[in-house]
Amino acid sequence: MSGPKKLHVKSFGCQMNVYDAQRMADTLAREGFVETETIEDADLVILNTCHIREKAAEKVYSELGRVRRLKDEAAHHGRKVTVAVAGCVAQAEGAEIVRRAPTVDLVVGPQNYHRLPDLIARAAQGERVVDTEFPVEDKFDHLAPASAAATRRRGVSAFLTVQEGCDKFCTFCVVPYTRGAEVSRPAAKIVAEAERLATAGVREITLIGQNVNSYHGEGADGRPLSLAGLVAAVADVPRIARIRYTTSHPRDMDDELIAAHRDLPQLMPQLHLPVQSGSDRILAAMNRRHTCDDYLRLVERLRRARPDMAFTSDFIVGFPGETEADFQATLAVVEDVGYAGAFSFKYSPRPGTPAAERDDQVADTHKAERLARLQALIDAGQDRFNESCVGRTFDVLLEKPGRHAGQLVGRSPYLQPVHVTAEPSRIGDIVAVTVTSMGGNSLFGHIVAPGERPPANIGTSAIAHA
Ligand code: SAH
Ligand code: SF4
Ligand code: F3S
Repeated sequence: MSGPKKLHVKSFGCQMNVYDAQRMADTLAREGFVETETIEDADLVILNTCHIREKAAEKVYSELGRVRRLKDEAAHHGRKVTVAVAGCVAQAEGAEIVRRAPTVDLVVGPQNYHRLPDLIARAAQGERVVDTEFPVEDKFDHLAPASAAATRRRGVSAFLTVQEGCDKFCTFCVVPYTRGAEVSRPAAKIVAEAERLATAGVREITLIGQNVNSYHGEGADGRPLSLAGLVAAVADVPRIARIRYTTSHPRDMDDELIAAHRDLPQLMPQLHLPVQSGSDRILAAMNRRHTCDDYLRLVERLRRARPDMAFTSDFIVGFPGETEADFQATLAVVEDVGYAGAFSFKYSPRPGTPAAERDDQVADTHKAERLARLQALIDAGQDRFNESCVGRTFDVLLEKPGRHAGQLVGRSPYLQPVHVTAEPSRIGDIVAVTVTSMGGNSLFGHIVAPGERPPANIGTSAIAHA
């Protein structure tokens, strides 16, 4: 059987992996690979993995069991399937994966995707390839200009990596080890990529990085540019109507970036700002380098700059040494900030991280019980936030067909999914929507002003500040 070779990339973990999956697909498109949604059809399966918690890392091996059966079945029909493991488990475990899972032909770390064509050729010769060499200086230079067709498939909202790696070394976290030291891309390359995305129909760009607000890439004048400067440069790209950035560290939120939320209408009033814990003792043990009060004052400053700012966060419960009193302080932060939503996790000891070595680990029963209490509080806050949107009118970027015929789903400025009745031709439009009800984590509403509105008129059209 001939025809183009087919590629299926399955991604786990964070937005960086989603973006990297597209990078890998672009690199391999030049080698004649076309993407397939159906894993059963693929000649090359790439599992793009996450190492952040034990559960995430272990998922790879159950997934590999399934892939092995597919591979055996294909071999039965004389078709060879190549299996690759990429992402953060690849970086962390390297050759161990090849030892543990005989079905794997190739292991490649996040720094080395530009070498995929060569690595695949070697695997085709029967070699079991492991490439987790680290660090690689030019890891961003190979970035393939995605074809307009490939980009168009990505829809109206896209991720754009501006920074990779982390120098913070929170004591619970594997990212500084799997993604390496902080590297920022030069602004000119980011703007060029934003222009390509805009040409292909993208209206909203989320600038991503493990520590995105520590961005300090080379600016047009050859000097380091801050994230605020970069956001302003991307805001100048025609047709880019909305900009977000994630994930931010509270320590790196500078005045210029806070002011950008006041001054730049393209910058959405929504921020994922993980606090992890409300206890100063635990924050210090986590090496977060800020107190609870620092964080609350930061939230306040952002709300002064942009009163309708919506915040989300990540929380870890059961960090080593966490007492009930520490946990109560975390619950208090949730009440104080009034989050629009949040992710919360049981602390998971990760190999090679300082916190995993501590002898005051919290029993799983306590972790589970605290997580349930925290999640109940977060869910209630999210419902309150969504309820406060009912009756308001704001701009919605229409992204894709909804579940029911005749329906489209888009995003509010605050990132909530909003369902409206509209023609598919309106995908990519930003329309004013009056929210009429909420259900689950989504809002429902109707379009009040038909017709394309100019990109300058984005943001909040008629928000009645609650
Ligand atoms: N760079 C981002 C997020 C990194 S990972 C930041 O600094 O916030 C995403 C989230 O996973 C973290 O915010 C944290 O809440 C959680 N996480 C990281 N390591 C963890 C671990 N060992 N156990 C449980 N949760 C963890
Ligand atoms: Fe991990 Fe902390 Fe870096 Fe975030 S800031 S990636 S939690 S080490
Ligand atoms: Fe996971 Fe790596 Fe992202 S560990 S969260 S895929 S940076």
